Amino acid sequence: MTGSYDSLEVHRGMLLDAGRVDAFRRALHHAVRAGDTVLDLGAGTGVLSLLAVQAGAAHVYAVERSSIATVAAALAERNGYGSRVSVIQADIDAVEVPHRVDVIVSEWLGVYGVDENLLATVLRARDRWLRPGGTMLPGRVVSWLAPVWLGESARESAYFRSRPHDLDLELIGELAAQQIAWPRAGVHPGQLRADPLALWRVDVARCPLGAATRTLAARLTFTADGAGALNGLAAWFEAGFGGGIALTNAPWAPPTHWGQFVFPLARTYRLAAGTTIQATFRCIPGGPGYCEHAWSVKVGRAPWEHHDTRDGGGSAWCEV
Ligand SMILES: C[S@@+](CC[C@H](N)C(=O)[O-])C[C@H]1O[C@@H](n2cnc3c(N)ncnc32)[C@H](O)[C@@H]1O
Repeated sequence: MTGSYDSLEVHRGMLLDAGRVDAFRRALHHAVRAGDTVLDLGAGTGVLSLLAVQAGAAHVYAVERSSIATVAAALAERNGYGSRVSVIQADIDAVEVPHRVDVIVSEWLGVYGVDENLLATVLRARDRWLRPGGTMLPGRVVSWLAPVWLGESARESAYFRSRPHDLDLELIGELAAQQIAWPRAGVHPGQLRADPLALWRVDVARCPLGAATRTLAARLTFTADGAGALNGLAAWFEAGFGGGIALTNAPWAPPTHWGQFVFPLARTYRLAAGTTIQATFRCIPGGPGYCEHAWSVKVGRAPWEHHDTRDGGGSAWCEV
């Protein structure tokens, strides 16, 4: 998410997302056997480490690189788990865990799963520290994409076109329309213009490390489910933990702190039932904590339009 992981504010938001914490709690109770050793990768405030102890773990290594690790250590003490949780403030790649563990739990999920560029870090830790046959939580992460109508983007563009305060602010609208939107109110099912399609499915226990260090790419063809307007592509994730336990920020799920991303289109398209919407989508590993994105869309017989965040904020261009 946005903001520094040193800041308590970011962690408060995640802790207040009770559905998120509860999904991990249920997953830990399902996966952890009494006496297991657990690695909590990116422990933050250590909440998942505490839940792992509750679930029966004999010992948890809570690895967190930011200064919030001091809060994790204090919380473990306050809960009486100080002797069973070792908080290690370091980058996981630099840590030597004393031995392989039975379970690795990590909340590495971005808004549509892989977009915080943490998957490769998680898989490196898996290859180094998970015992053969051990459990990864979550075990499966699917990224989803769907065509969407985001009315608030259209209303904002109209406002900037309306010469507010007798000023020409249209440029602001044009620039904003190129940026990935993170709608405060979230995306609702009624805004989707076609059935969602999976971008990719990550089997966290088996996915080769090499696949996570490269660009993830998908080519999808949607079919509009009715007449309506289209101005973006919405993205979200679905994480599976085994035992039927899942966590998602899909538009129809209870609200989460993640919400959804909307990748904007350069124009508004009018759809009829059955209109074909072709899309290519790439998630390109960036620096620590972020990815770059490239997406292209062709609606019906209209020309392809292309977007790439590496061109400075998702600039758009159209084929003619
Ligand atoms: C989404 S937060 C989850 C925090 C906590 N596990 C929770 O569920 O509330 C991810 C955490 O991973 C940490 N992190 C990211 N990359 C890391 C790395 N390479 N080594 C250690 N910690 C890392 C971040 O600082 C952040 O606190």
